[in-house]
Amino acid sequence: EKSRETALSRLFFTYEGIPYPVTMCTSETFQALDTFEARSDDIVLASYPKCGSNWILHIVSELIFTVTKRRYEYPEFPVLECGDSEKYERMKQFPSPRILTTHLHYDRLPWSIVKNKVKILVIFRNPKDTAVSFFHFHNDVPDIPSYASWDEFFKHFMKGQVSWGSYFDFAINWSEHLDDENVKLILYEDLKENLATGIKQIAEFFKFSLTGEQIQTISAGSTFQAMREKSQETHGAVGPFLFRKGEVGDWKNLFSEAQNQEMDAKFKECLSGTSLRAKLKH
Ligand code: A3P
Repeated sequence: EKSRETALSRLFFTYEGIPYPVTMCTSETFQALDTFEARSDDIVLASYPKCGSNWILHIVSELIFTVTKRRYEYPEFPVLECGDSEKYERMKQFPSPRILTTHLHYDRLPWSIVKNKVKILVIFRNPKDTAVSFFHFHNDVPDIPSYASWDEFFKHFMKGQVSWGSYFDFAINWSEHLDDENVKLILYEDLKENLATGIKQIAEFFKFSLTGEQIQTISAGSTFQAMREKSQETHGAVGPFLFRKGEVGDWKNLFSEAQNQEMDAKFKECLSGTSLRAKLKH
């Protein structure tokens, strides 16, 4: 048990108390990020891992393409805090609007994002499906650590000993900013229920003016099936793992009743008193 814990802990690099994957994050990059210069027309997409970040990234890229007719060029690692420390220098050359996806807490964003009141779209997904998606991701993708069992992963998830730390800490931190003027919350479950409406709301938030027909076209290309079919083309070998199942309620296939109750209790304990408690569909 102890050696297993040690083996898992080696997979993480801890920065300011939060574990990150050693293969993707370094302290040099975090230090460089402190002085990252956000532009007021940048677009920030924030989420805890597995809440649908690639989905909203695709939607926003399509919105930009429809309006500007220009394909957005991503840095090698689209996630802002991942990659080498020189990436922010390279990103200075990128045309506006740049898309910055992140799994950071609001409090850890580079100051220029806050100062310039950069628009931030936050996507949340219920914690149970998020945990199940995260588990499968670890165990399906060949080059990243796998867990011995769902039960083992669940324990780590509940303790926040997973990449990017605790879902609940992330939710508590962001919940204080969801009513900020430059922040818009979108729920995975709502997007799943009515994709075109969600896309329309996202377009309105970023002040992209599109026709109903254009919204429908983007919507047709943003369904789970459409994105999964193209996933190898768009995301390489990891594609099919990123677009695994795309459903609401898959947690019921893995959670035991005890785990269900533990998660409900944690949800209540952490999110009581926050605006997210009523909003999240858990
Ligand atoms: P599942 O593992 O439950 O299938 P992220 O992009 O933040 O890593 O999130 C990945 C999750 O979002 C995966 O969940 C994936 O299938 C789901 N997802 C991605 N695109 C989707 C889409 N167009 N519709 C529904 N779910 C989608």
